[in-house]
Amino acid sequence: MVQASPKVARLLIDDKEIDLPVISGSGGPDVIDVGGLTRHGYFTYDPGFVSTASCDSELTYIDGDAGVLLHRGYPIEQLAERSDFLELCYLLLNGDLPCAAKREQFVNNIRRHTMVHEKLKALIQGYRRDAHPMAILCGVVAALSAFYHDSLDIDDAQHRLRTAHRLIAKMPTLAAMSYKYARGEPFIYPRNDLGYAENFLHMMFANPCEEHHVNPVIAQAMDRIFLLHADHEQNASTSTVRMAGSTGANPFSCIAAGIAALWGPSHGGANEAVLNMLAEIGHEKHIDKYVAKAKNKDDPFRLMGFGHRVYKSYDPRAKVMQQSCHEVLNALGVDSDPTLRMAQRLEQIALEDSYFVEKRLYPNVDFYSGIILKAIGIPVEMFTVIFAVGRTPGWIAHWNEMIGGNYRLGRPRQLYRGPTRRDYLPVDRR
Ligand code: SDX
Repeated sequence: MVQASPKVARLLIDDKEIDLPVISGSGGPDVIDVGGLTRHGYFTYDPGFVSTASCDSELTYIDGDAGVLLHRGYPIEQLAERSDFLELCYLLLNGDLPCAAKREQFVNNIRRHTMVHEKLKALIQGYRRDAHPMAILCGVVAALSAFYHDSLDIDDAQHRLRTAHRLIAKMPTLAAMSYKYARGEPFIYPRNDLGYAENFLHMMFANPCEEHHVNPVIAQAMDRIFLLHADHEQNASTSTVRMAGSTGANPFSCIAAGIAALWGPSHGGANEAVLNMLAEIGHEKHIDKYVAKAKNKDDPFRLMGFGHRVYKSYDPRAKVMQQSCHEVLNALGVDSDPTLRMAQRLEQIALEDSYFVEKRLYPNVDFYSGIILKAIGIPVEMFTVIFAVGRTPGWIAHWNEMIGGNYRLGRPRQLYRGPTRRDYLPVDRR
């Protein structure tokens, strides 16, 4: 629900007054509608979009100062405690929590789309054995466009919903296939008698030679990790999906663009980078040296898993993740995991350091997720793939919200700093 408040922002430039509408949403800061500025000969300038709302949305609300994260109004803490990943997928796509019948129908819809076309096996087998699984995931999700491009009218809500079901259902299958291929093991087909996270872990760790049962504690932890990653308003990868989608591109290629953006270490690649950083630190006695490096402007090193563009307080997902860490490690009888111990010590030192306090740098979702994933046997190079599986409902819900609403082609302008007009010179006069 967006209301135009009576307020206007009055710009005074030289002797010119420009009135711009101020619009209030249902939460968060009001926005100044600058769309009409070009008529007055100006652009706004905001590299990195620190103060720019690129769209309006009803999916997710973040209050970075208060450490609040709501999905369709429901706090992430309550969803993590009482819901599950597929129910959150339904909530993001449909706007309300499902009744029992709708929930069962949605779960069955997802179950019916978990298999992928057999031809995708050959595509995955075309990669080098040492290909990063994110490289494989990016490629095969884009390739799904080749299988559904003719059965998809993006202006048809039912087609969009079926695409959402297909993507949510197939991502775990493709993720597990990228892992199995790297290990030289046979692909394991999805099983429709298993829960979503249980099925993923089965496809990851089962083999044709013996019975395989997924530990329910690990399945529950995996489901919670997917849930905690489901959506996060206009983060870099979701904005990429929206930008690609604004051209009317095939949604599978839009999601592939989101996967590509997620891979960077400043974004979804941070969970893998956290474990690599902890391995590089090696021992608690080196923590102070690395914290000093992170504070040194001349040193590119940053504490991975720390800091956030929006959260200037503790990321609520990190709190839930840390709690899950203890539960999983206790359930697995891992009474003291050295990596977890080092992460907790690093967090304690950083949060007491004036540099991190003044810059309001706190652990984010990626700081603890890797420790749980490592504890349940997921290899480090699969961490960002797990993030992509979890974020898929958010990406496709934002795409669906945009395509189902009023949207325009995304086409930012720039502050041009290049050469002014000049004439071509023949080579003998240069
Ligand atoms: C995710 O957008 C989302 O919602 C993302 C996400 C999601 O769910 O989609 O939440 C998931 O991507 C979480 C973030 C994961 N990334 C990391 O953990 C990488 C480490 N973090 C940093 O690279 C950084 O904090 C960012 C990229 C996350 C945010 O950077 P900003 O908002 O552009 O802030 P900045 O780089 O301008 O930093 C502000 C200041 C700078 O110092 P000054 O130039 O002001 O002196 O804080 C410093 C930075 O040098 N700083 C850090 C730091 N993060 C910021 N210093 C040391 N270590 C860090 N981690």
